[in-house]
Amino acid sequence: MEKQYIVVCDDEYDIRKLMKEIIEDEGYSVITAANEDELLTAIKMHSVFLVFLDIILENENGMDILARLKKDYPDIEVIIITGHGTIDLAVKATKLGAFDFITKPLKIDYISQSIKKIMYVNSLKNENKMLKQKTFIQDEFIGESDEIKKIKDLVKVVGQSDSKVVIYGENGTGKELVARLIHINSHRANNRFVELNCAAIPATLIESELFGYEKGAFTNAFSQKKGLFELASTGTIFLDEIGDMPLEMQAKLLRVIQDGKFTRIGGVETITVDVRIIAATNKNLEEEITKGNFREDLYYRLNVIPIYIPPLRKRKEDIPLLIEYFLSKLKNNNELRIKSFDPDALEVLKSFPWPGNIRQLKNIIDRINILNPSDVVTREFVSSILEGKTQIDIDSYNEADLKSLRESYEKEIIMSRLKKFNFNITKTAQSLDIERTNLYKKLKRYGIQLNGLEE
Ligand SMILES: Nc1ncnc2c1ncn2[C@@H]1O[C@H](COP(=O)(O)OP(=O)(O)OP(=O)(O)O)[C@@H](O)[C@H]1O
Ligand SMILES: [Mg+2]
Repeated sequence: MEKQYIVVCDDEYDIRKLMKEIIEDEGYSVITAANEDELLTAIKMHSVFLVFLDIILENENGMDILARLKKDYPDIEVIIITGHGTIDLAVKATKLGAFDFITKPLKIDYISQSIKKIMYVNSLKNENKMLKQKTFIQDEFIGESDEIKKIKDLVKVVGQSDSKVVIYGENGTGKELVARLIHINSHRANNRFVELNCAAIPATLIESELFGYEKGAFTNAFSQKKGLFELASTGTIFLDEIGDMPLEMQAKLLRVIQDGKFTRIGGVETITVDVRIIAATNKNLEEEITKGNFREDLYYRLNVIPIYIPPLRKRKEDIPLLIEYFLSKLKNNNELRIKSFDPDALEVLKSFPWPGNIRQLKNIIDRINILNPSDVVTREFVSSILEGKTQIDIDSYNEADLKSLRESYEKEIIMSRLKKFNFNITKTAQSLDIERTNLYKKLKRYGIQLNGLEE
């Protein structure tokens, strides 16, 4: 794990010094800050899990700082430092999200106890998160075909090592799911899984995304930014669509792979990281090498363990299982309208070629569920949906139906964003351009569980 810090923010030098000594004696690393600016700099530069915050700072209102901290960094716990006369303020602070408060004069025992409390709560949270994530993702990997069984076995074996993996498969076959599964089944499961889709971001930004930059490295670099390699430290980095990575970046990536070291853009400091690399592509990398689009040396470095996910049309026996699984998910969310499928309706689904693979199958099942006019799904209805003939006929829907249609699409979009951002509420809300509180409300309304990833 990245080194974790405690910040002491107090305008009195003596208090900062004393607290630093006490906390360091307990074996933690401490940064001191005299005001909000210094506090925020510390948080941006380091991985901070706890802030001791004086509620009455010279020229600044600790309560406002607390509110801002809890909004921007909900995962960082705050313990308020307060004088005797201001205990009611401290109580208010706990309502704003402070974990606890300590009173001046400072008592060593109380400080160390409150840190221990936080460590304990955090360890429970982590454990909970991991357990839930584990069952969540394993349950989700459906399939009994020989190919999928082999992949499941391989994932277990590959999880034991740090070897590089390249996952090959057509669109929507589950490459990302397999990458996450490998991470969850590895000793890195407790640490981060970060991903970069090399095809989705402009070539010019890939480098700063991966390696970060120093303040002033270019016009808009107002502060230092860590790259994904640093953020993934002791965890896993998932390089999606690696076949689309520009050649120039391939050379830079190769260098990091060879010596495990890099520098931030505009920086001089050599950074060493311990990161496991998993890549995925829907391209044939050997062909890309012949075409001059992919570096052969990078290919040999990365392709240590290749995993091939076959398209759905080559493992038709998994289709009924997947349908059952997607329906059971709808049922869990109380959205299931379908009662049953006619056997020949299932046959139609089984014999469809599924160019968009599992993602497409899932979308079609959702669509059938929303649009199917009766409890039983017929062969004719499935065919019309697959041929794209059944469009939403707005006129035939009353208001209630439209609402449920809209909500089911909204829910779908939120779910997919949550997954994309690894259940990070702040990022998901940003990407949907809504407030965090609004997102929470929607999660509640749609009964979306966060799997303990955020409380
Ligand atoms: N074996 C499976 N069991 C259940 N769900 C699956 C399975 N494989 C894939 N899915 C689901 O199908 C969808 C697409 O999977 P995923 O995003 O992992 O595919 P991908 O290969 O990365 O797609 P793309 O090439 O479009 O990036 C996801 O919702 C995923 O959860
Ligand atoms: Mg993908």
